[in-house]
Amino acid sequence: MRVIILDTANQVAQYAADLLLETVRKKSRPVLGLATGSTPISTYQQVINAVQAGQASFKNTTTFNLDEYIGIDDTHPQSYRHFMKHYLFNHIDIDLANTHLPMAASLDETRLVENAQDYENAIQEAGGIDLQLLGIGENGHIGFNEPTSSLRSRTRIKSLSESTIEANKRFFADGEYQPHLALTMGIETILESKHILLLATGHKKAAAVKAMVEGPLTAMCPASALQQHAKACLVLDQDAAAQL
Ligand code: GLP
Repeated sequence: MRVIILDTANQVAQYAADLLLETVRKKSRPVLGLATGSTPISTYQQVINAVQAGQASFKNTTTFNLDEYIGIDDTHPQSYRHFMKHYLFNHIDIDLANTHLPMAASLDETRLVENAQDYENAIQEAGGIDLQLLGIGENGHIGFNEPTSSLRSRTRIKSLSESTIEANKRFFADGEYQPHLALTMGIETILESKHILLLATGHKKAAAVKAMVEGPLTAMCPASALQQHAKACLVLDQDAAAQL
């Protein structure tokens, strides 16, 4: 694991954007793994600025997001498809047909299991993920792989932990339905990416970062699985790195 500690969250975003843009420029058919949450929003803004300034093009880029909520369709403002359009896709020259998120609107389990397998197949058919961007949950989750997730897991249905539901409550209006289930890439799916870039900013992430970097490899901290990856890079600000 390579750990890079920068002074500010803004520097973390700039570093991440530069790496995403470098991958897009270097490959003829780049495949990016993307993440939601508040952390990558400023990274996406830097990417948008570069594309709009003509410094990079996403015309040939394919993307796969980590996860999607089950039971809300992709026009719902809290769906991750909506998030990605709002914070990135609508502002760059990517072909929306090349952007993928797990299909999770249905509540039918058989259908969801099929969709999960289709997602795995689509990643393989695209040639695998060149660079996977990750955030980290306060409980050490990556994607929606909550503590106790199998380290060998693949894309599947996952129930969200109470603490994740609580942490993500801020995105939902009072009384609005908040999903308790998600379709998420598994830990093994994530580990198959050629490069991994995890971003963490702010003191709320400090304990999870310590467990990921200095703790044992354990399903209780899914992000600790990155210790097993030869090309995982963590980019932290001073607050997130405070307990290292
Ligand atoms: C969500 C997402 C994760 C994300 C995490 C942290 O639950 N499924 O992919 O990394 O929360 O989010 P934030 O960056 O808002 O702290």
